[in-house]
Amino acid sequence: MKPLIFAGNWKMHLGPAGARGFLDRFLPHYRPAGDREVWFFAPAVSAATVAAAVTGVSGVRVGIQNVHWEPKGAFTGETSVPMAVEAGATAALVGHSERRHVFGETDREAGLKVQAVLAGGLVPLLCVGETLAEREGGRTLDVVRRQLGVLRGIPAADLAQVGIAYEPVWAIGTGRNATPEDAAQVHAAIRAQLAELGGPADAMSILYGGSVKPENAAALVGEAGIDGLLVGGASLDPESWRAIVGGARN
Ligand code: PGA
Repeated sequence: MKPLIFAGNWKMHLGPAGARGFLDRFLPHYRPAGDREVWFFAPAVSAATVAAAVTGVSGVRVGIQNVHWEPKGAFTGETSVPMAVEAGATAALVGHSERRHVFGETDREAGLKVQAVLAGGLVPLLCVGETLAEREGGRTLDVVRRQLGVLRGIPAADLAQVGIAYEPVWAIGTGRNATPEDAAQVHAAIRAQLAELGGPADAMSILYGGSVKPENAAALVGEAGIDGLLVGGASLDPESWRAIVGGARN
C-alpha cells in the first residue's frame, strides 16, 4: 500500500528561525510510521534549515513551494530546481492556486515547471482545482482536465513520480472544505485521466487540500482514492499538525 502523504504548505510563513522553532516543537513528538510520510513545503529561504533539521528522520521530505523552469539566469526573485536541490528539497509544488490566481501563472508555465522539476530529480506535486464560479457552472471536471493536460507527453516512467493535489480554490483558506465524498469523486476523475495520459494511475498519489483541519482530516483520508492531504493554515501550528499527521487511517 502506498503511504499516505501529509504535506504542509507553509506559504509565506516561517522564515529560518520560525521553521527551526516549529520543528523543535514538532519533531520530539514525531513517530515515523510506515504507512505515512510528512512533507514540508517551506519558503525557499527556510528549505535548507528544514532539511538540516530532518536529516536522518525517516518518512520526512522537504519541498519548495515554487520553482522557475530555467536552471539559472537573469530571473530576479526566482529559485531554480538545482538551487532547491542544493538546499535539500526533494519535492516542489507546481501550479498552486495562489500562484495561478494571485501571480497569474498559466498552464503553460505549470507544464514547463513540471518538466524542469522532473528533470532535476524532484517530485512535482501539481495542484489543480476549480474556482467557485467554475464549480457552480458545473465545470469542475473540465477545469481539472485542462490543468492536468500539462502532463500530456510525459513518459510513463516520469509520470510515476508525479503527485497531484486537488485543491478547490473556494476551499483554500476559507474554512469551507469539500465533503470527503465530493473530493473523492473528483479524485476518481483525476485518476481516470492520469490513466488516459499513460500514467500508472493507481500507484500515483492524489492529495486533497483546502481547509483541512484536525477535525476533518481523518474523514478525508478515509475515502478511497484520497492518498493524502495538502494543508496550509493548520500545518503552521505544531499541535494541530501533529494531530493531522498522527490521525487514524480509516
Ligand atoms: P488551507 O490551504 O489549508 O489554509 O486552506 C491549503 C493550500 O493552499 O495548500
